[in-house]
Amino acid sequence: MSNPSLLILAGDGIGPEVMEQVKRIIGWYGDKRALTFDVSEDLVGGAAYDAHGVPLHDDTMAKAQEVDAVLLGAVGGPKYDDLDFSVKPERGLLRLRKEMDLFSNLRPAQCFDALADFSSLKKDIVAGLDIMIVRELTSGVYFGEPRGISVIDNERVGVNTQRYTESEIARVARSAFELAKKRGNKVCSMEKANVMESGILWRDVVNEVHQADYADVELSHMYADNGAMQLVRAPKQFDVILTDNLFGDILSDCAAMLTGSLGMLPSASLGLPMANGRPKALYEPVHGSAPDITGQGKANPIACILSFAMALRYSFDQGAEADRLEAAIEAVLASGARTADLMGPEGGTPMSTTDMGDAILAALDASV
Ligand code: IPM
Ligand code: MG
Repeated sequence: MSNPSLLILAGDGIGPEVMEQVKRIIGWYGDKRALTFDVSEDLVGGAAYDAHGVPLHDDTMAKAQEVDAVLLGAVGGPKYDDLDFSVKPERGLLRLRKEMDLFSNLRPAQCFDALADFSSLKKDIVAGLDIMIVRELTSGVYFGEPRGISVIDNERVGVNTQRYTESEIARVARSAFELAKKRGNKVCSMEKANVMESGILWRDVVNEVHQADYADVELSHMYADNGAMQLVRAPKQFDVILTDNLFGDILSDCAAMLTGSLGMLPSASLGLPMANGRPKALYEPVHGSAPDITGQGKANPIACILSFAMALRYSFDQGAEADRLEAAIEAVLASGARTADLMGPEGGTPMSTTDMGDAILAALDASV
């Protein structure tokens, strides 16, 4: 059997810095756990634009379709703000999501014990928090047609379309129910069925899928605005949150901040099974390219490393090794190790990106 394959697209800003630490972790698994990956690397986002004039080259897209999993760093930066919309760095990421058909975006928001004091919310509201947002990622207003800016009656009109088909809703609902069965067995679906027809359909289809195949999972519905409020009021009421592309974008940033730092949150974007049974998959940290700290060795690599842990779990059936990596990170945080984004009011000297990588590797060494 050949080794599983990974395509690394480190991208822009802090993407390459945090990915450097992930590459060391991947190397560790090869050396110490006989889990060797065939790793290739390519460009995405602004880095691809600089080289090819497009945020994702066709050859890179083709490679992404062939590998077992893609690991992505981050895209975008002020240098690219004035580019034409069609070649903005974000378009590269959106093309990957769309063409790989990565409809189910898993965004866990977990509060590490050692960081419960870092949340902007009171400790007892977030301590022990463990929720999973399942965001639809290939449809809705991000991709709906018609779209564009045109001139009507002598003024400019901007249009985007929120559009969902039954099958698009059903497949992401299934993935949320399947996940819930392995967790707390609860799904809360969020839309705006009070004002949007697409929300009414969303609610109907989620109910149908539930009744047909997942009646044993506890299902509730919430308007997305109330969902945002509940997330900051009493987030521990949730287990799995199922929602569409745009609401999921917003609610997942909100959930992320509950945990204390955006620098901690991984994500997995999954599609249909490939011929080898593994799902089409892309893993990326939820944080962006953080241009303000790029190149200073300050970035927290944990979100990107946890994204690799998700790859071990969801692409490579290595749940025990994913547990090992997550436990190593937890141990490092418990020991007081902190990058700049995790410095509390008491201050102290933050460690560098590479130091954090060193500490996690040492904790991994100690685990075998
Ligand atoms: C995210 C990001 C992206 C999105 C951007 C970079 C296109 O905010 O992954 O949440 O809006 O989906
Ligand atoms: Mg976002």
